[in-house]
Amino acid sequence: MAAGKQVKWHLLLLVFISSLLFSAFAISSEIKKTLAKTIKELNRKGPYLGLITVYAPEEDAFFASGAFKPNPKQPYVDLSGRRFRIGSIEGSKVIYVRCGVGLVNAAAATQQMLDVFHITGIVHFGIAGNANSSMSIGDVIIPKQFAQTGIWDWVKPNATIPTNDVAELDFGSYNMPSGGDNNLGSIGYSTEFFYSKSGKPNTPQRTIWFQTSQNWFELASSLEGMELEQCVNSSLCLPKKPKVVVGLNGATSNSFVDNAAYREFLYTTFHVSSLDMESAAIVMTSLSNGFNVIVIRGLSDLAGAQDGDNTILLFGPLAATNVAKAVIQFVKALRGFHFKQ
Ligand SMILES: *[C@@H]1O[C@H](CO)[C@@H](O)[C@H](O)[C@H]1NC(C)=O
Ligand SMILES: *[C@@H]1O[C@H](CO)[C@@H](O)[C@H](O)[C@H]1NC(C)=O
Ligand SMILES: *[C@@H]1O[C@H](CO)[C@@H](O)[C@H](O)[C@H]1NC(C)=O
Repeated sequence: MAAGKQVKWHLLLLVFISSLLFSAFAISSEIKKTLAKTIKELNRKGPYLGLITVYAPEEDAFFASGAFKPNPKQPYVDLSGRRFRIGSIEGSKVIYVRCGVGLVNAAAATQQMLDVFHITGIVHFGIAGNANSSMSIGDVIIPKQFAQTGIWDWVKPNATIPTNDVAELDFGSYNMPSGGDNNLGSIGYSTEFFYSKSGKPNTPQRTIWFQTSQNWFELASSLEGMELEQCVNSSLCLPKKPKVVVGLNGATSNSFVDNAAYREFLYTTFHVSSLDMESAAIVMTSLSNGFNVIVIRGLSDLAGAQDGDNTILLFGPLAATNVAKAVIQFVKALRGFHFKQ
């Protein structure tokens, strides 16, 4: 008898739990349905230009410009913990998201932007370290191409690196005092695996450079000579008036570089002028999916070549303000460009 009662009790519990689960599922599928409807309506009013920044100081400078006007009916959609903000800049429809630091965040947010929303292309912007001593803090760079310089082959100290690696960093040659062996040996820089909708499925190309879209890049040259801010406030100014530089190369990896020797290695080996942690991922993901993409980055610091502290806290906000100015200018230029087509 007791056993029979227990079985009944268990059955009841099971029914109760499964009905709870079912209602949780019903609620979540209801939310999904509402979300899908919202997105469908938004997309019907598209297409939008996709804007992606990385972290709060860049976002603050962008919103402080006042150029972004939120869509009053549907100002945002939250997906996977990120807020995709719907709005416009000077009449051009845009969807803006802050992806977060690093390649994984950058690629995930880009893929989601392109999959979920009706997008014409991606304008990625933020601040970066300056690896090129002929450029200055405050300059805004619109690089032609990016390499992901974080794919390494770590080998045994005396082993030779794989022959298809594109560069080698020998730790021993950085010993102080110089000379002697080093247990880290050397590392080889390898290439990306680029998947593309225009390529054969499951057949990645091995690539080091990812070029931004040719037509957008050419359009960006109209930004050269535009007026940029020189001062953080009345007492802190850059020694030279900053400028927009269109061209040159950028490097991306999951490393924050504040080290003169490594900065020099990257400059002499890859001939890169800007160092950041997202751009290559955003360019690569956009190209994989067949979308236009451009990157606009403001140089906020010397990536370790400075005396004393990194200037990112001092000049980061100024660099971000100048980048926001350049982005707004580019969005305006793009509108005329598409209109002409
Ligand atoms: C590398 O090779 C040299 C010469 O054969 C040897 O003396 C040294 O111990 C080796 N270094 C390491 C870290 O294995
Ligand atoms: C200007 O900005 C710097 C850096 O943020 C700060 O240390 C300084 O106090 C500011 N000066 C004025 C006059 O606001
Ligand atoms: C460094 O910057 C200068 C000035 O913009 C440029 O002329 C030069 O080509 C750059 N160096 C490399 C390796 O790209």
